[in-house]
Amino acid sequence: LPVLVAVAAVGYLLGSIPFGIVMARLFGLGDLRQIGSGNIGATNVLRTGNKPAALLTLLGDAGKGAAAVLIARALFADDAAQIAGFAAFLGHCFPIFLGFNGGKGVATWLGTMLALAWPVGLTACITWLVVALLFRVSSLAALAAAALSPIWAMLLGFPSYVVLSIALALLIFLRHRANIERLIAGDEPRIGGKK
Ligand code: G3P
Repeated sequence: LPVLVAVAAVGYLLGSIPFGIVMARLFGLGDLRQIGSGNIGATNVLRTGNKPAALLTLLGDAGKGAAAVLIARALFADDAAQIAGFAAFLGHCFPIFLGFNGGKGVATWLGTMLALAWPVGLTACITWLVVALLFRVSSLAALAAAALSPIWAMLLGFPSYVVLSIALALLIFLRHRANIERLIAGDEPRIGGKK
């Protein structure tokens, strides 16, 4: 048990690193909290128009989830890797460095799933991309990918990841409450749009 607590703590701390805030500062883009949706994720960094900063945010936020999983798996076993990934996701959404007020977890979730069970992670990325290309709305793509991921885990032969996928999908929906309201109202901004 102390091992799993340590794994969770390391995962949580890794997940807490807000790459969006870091990149916005490094690239001199200002305070991300005052831009667009105010979220700390790659989608909102992209609203500044700086694509490299957005890409680095995506890679950093996904990479920290993957790193948490890979470290835990290298040192321990698969249940430790699942706990590390879940903790990294919670770290991104409720980071200790930002007064527990963090992001929506999409990039960290994708990185975590890619490292845990890459076919499931890859399918989730493809789902995100297809919906994003069709509708040009980042949150809608995330919600669709998250909702389908337990089904992908089941169909692709990873039943031991179904419970985690359901838990993460529920949390992703909870973190997107404001987006869901905007989607229903029809005023969620589009990727590359003016708003
Ligand atoms: O990854 C977060 C995305 O799904 C929504 O971000 O800034 O449009 O609220 P945002």
